[in-house]
Amino acid sequence: TGMFTLDPGFMSTAACSSSITYIDGDKGELLYRGYPIDQLAVKCDFLETSYLILNGELPNAKQKAEFNDLVTRHTMVNEQLQFFLRGFRRDAHPMAVLTGLVGALSAFYHDSLDITQPKHREISAIRLVAKMPTLVAMAYKYSIGQPYVYPKNDLSYTGNFLRMMFATPCEEYVVNPVIERALDRIFILHADHEQNASTSTVRLCGSSGTNPFAAIAAGVACLWGPAHGGANEAALQMLEDLLAAGGVDKLGEFVAKVKDKNSGVRLMGFGHRVYKNYDPRAKLMQETCREVLEALGLQDDPLFKLAMALEKIALEDDYFVQRKLYPNVDFYSGIVQRAIGIPTQLFTAIFALARTVGWIAQWDEMISDPDYKIGRPRQLFTGSPSRDVPDLDKR
Ligand code: CMC
Repeated sequence: TGMFTLDPGFMSTAACSSSITYIDGDKGELLYRGYPIDQLAVKCDFLETSYLILNGELPNAKQKAEFNDLVTRHTMVNEQLQFFLRGFRRDAHPMAVLTGLVGALSAFYHDSLDITQPKHREISAIRLVAKMPTLVAMAYKYSIGQPYVYPKNDLSYTGNFLRMMFATPCEEYVVNPVIERALDRIFILHADHEQNASTSTVRLCGSSGTNPFAAIAAGVACLWGPAHGGANEAALQMLEDLLAAGGVDKLGEFVAKVKDKNSGVRLMGFGHRVYKNYDPRAKLMQETCREVLEALGLQDDPLFKLAMALEKIALEDDYFVQRKLYPNVDFYSGIVQRAIGIPTQLFTAIFALARTVGWIAQWDEMISDPDYKIGRPRQLFTGSPSRDVPDLDKR
């Protein structure tokens, strides 16, 4: 049937209408609800940004305090989840663990799974945003064999996450404000990005009417791939391999390999389906990187220097210029996270934590639309026409 238009990779198909995030890929512009990302990253914290993404407007002081309080009161997870977590190998990839834990949340909140009720959808959204840091930190603590650290309500969202990640019962943990601000900014920069693969997955999954925990688990699974959220882990790995192989002296050879299509090697943290100009998140991430390294006395970090040198070579090379390949958010985020002490394997889980608010806002926008339909793409069939099944001895 020739009734359908084939559009592999959805290069030119809008799958929905949305009023949440706007990207102008040619200008390198990113807006959440109309506000430029560079202003939000400087003037707001992650929970204010989350409120904005979920509700359409920035909170005033009273709304901000109420929202912080609401999220804070939902940060604990059911004790039973610890036993579920214990079923995993200690060396399991955190994204494997997170896909399981997030999906498992639907088994605990039967009181809020009626997606036709706005109140239920709202409380599920709050629960997801609130519990994600707890789950990611639990997965990390489990992987290194340390006791879980319970959330502490007088800390900020990000401060609390840092404490759950790095505190031990043996000594007082004091949150470093520079690290807290940097990580909070990473969260803001990753909070939403319109109809990327994982968000489209959440929408498609949610369009069947399944519960939001199940739909977000699908988003986590999709984010894991190296072409999407897994790129931050892959980008840092690439830089570390390059450093081990000889650093700056090896860059020319490496770039030549990237340009050779038969090598199968891509410059990780470069290129984007929508941005054909500098990813505005990458700019902010590079600044944050510099700030954090300076504050921690790591300004001579060889990895950062190597990344800057690699970026310079690529931006001046015809291959990258012609294809409009620029650094994306993942090029520098790994260096920041590494400086903070977050292990490479956990990078994509941090991305999932931050993107949860975008996923859930996009899901809610879809479910709130009275005309939404189950997502059901069609196909251009290329297989055999109808034929009779031959008897076994005739095959
Ligand atoms: N290194 C080398 N060549 C590249 C790269 C790269 N990173 N990205 C694209 N190209 C080339 C590609 O080979 C193709 O060349 P040609 O036209 O000669 O065949 C051209 O540029 C267009 O690439 P494409 O793969 O058709 O573009 P796409 O829109 O399908 O893919 C992408 C976008 C992000 C998957 C891709 O750029 C990529 O694989 N980048 C590396 C992984 C990465 O950093 N991903 C993070 C994306 S941003 C955060 C997120 O979404 O999670």
